[in-house]
Amino acid sequence: MECRIIGISILHVRENKDAKALLRKCMKGVHIGSPSTKNLEKDLLSLSAEARIKKILTLYHPKVSLACSFSKEDLLIADMILNINPEARIFAIDTLKLPKETLECAEDFSIHSNCTIEWYKPTTGEVEQLVKEWGEDTYRDSIEARKACCNARKLQPLSRAIEGLDIWITGLRRGQGDTRTTLSVFTPASGNDLAKLNPLFDWTIEEVDAEIKKRNIPINTLYESGYTSIGCDPCTKAVSSGEGIRDGRWWWENSDTKECGLHQ
Ligand code: ADX
Ligand code: SF4
Repeated sequence: MECRIIGISILHVRENKDAKALLRKCMKGVHIGSPSTKNLEKDLLSLSAEARIKKILTLYHPKVSLACSFSKEDLLIADMILNINPEARIFAIDTLKLPKETLECAEDFSIHSNCTIEWYKPTTGEVEQLVKEWGEDTYRDSIEARKACCNARKLQPLSRAIEGLDIWITGLRRGQGDTRTTLSVFTPASGNDLAKLNPLFDWTIEEVDAEIKKRNIPINTLYESGYTSIGCDPCTKAVSSGEGIRDGRWWWENSDTKECGLHQ
């Protein structure tokens, strides 16, 4: 690896043609872009959740954004990132099937934190195509129909939301169920997949609850009615005691298929 350091006074560059030419010569072949994500996973593991976020924000803002579903985990991370940098970016996908309580929670949180959420939703064309191919609200008919709906309503808007980013942040935790037990703090970019930071990957729900309380963050009122994981209205219900955290999501499917494609 070759490392060269060049130093030319900016004042001189602005006014001096020779200095401008020299700077152009020095910078030839130099790529100015985002720092590499290589080796980040090891560094991030030993840090606290806030320090993980701070490190990523310092290196990558504004090319990093939190994917926020207004779950407890996402609200906690949102609070953390806004405390670190009030300009930190947060995006949310409105599938047009979200419960009204989630939309109210989003509104409450943006007032509470004085922040702007970047919203993305499916286009009319994407919804029309879905209905044409699979019919209206057929998500319970088959896993294929359900995945087609998630694809049109979540994945297509997601691809627009992450365009131009280097990293996205999520509220994924290992304790969220069968499909997430091997999750790590950081996944480097691979193929078409963007690098991902999961700052709470090793937190328990009790730790999340305690931190939410300490910080006085307003949460989705559906949690008071027995919901433990909240997605679209027709595909989410409350759970009974003894059931898993994500058992109320797509409850008619087996636990090994319970992903919408955002993360697998
Ligand atoms: S998922 O199956 O819907 O992806 P879950 O609700 O457990 O699972 O969400 C996991 C993470 O995905 C959230 O912490 C959040 O980062 C992201 N996410 C899920 N839904 C949305 C959404 N509607 N908008 C933005 N991010 C989302
Ligand atoms: Fe469609 Fe249900 Fe997926 Fe929402 S969770 S996008 S309503 S299948």
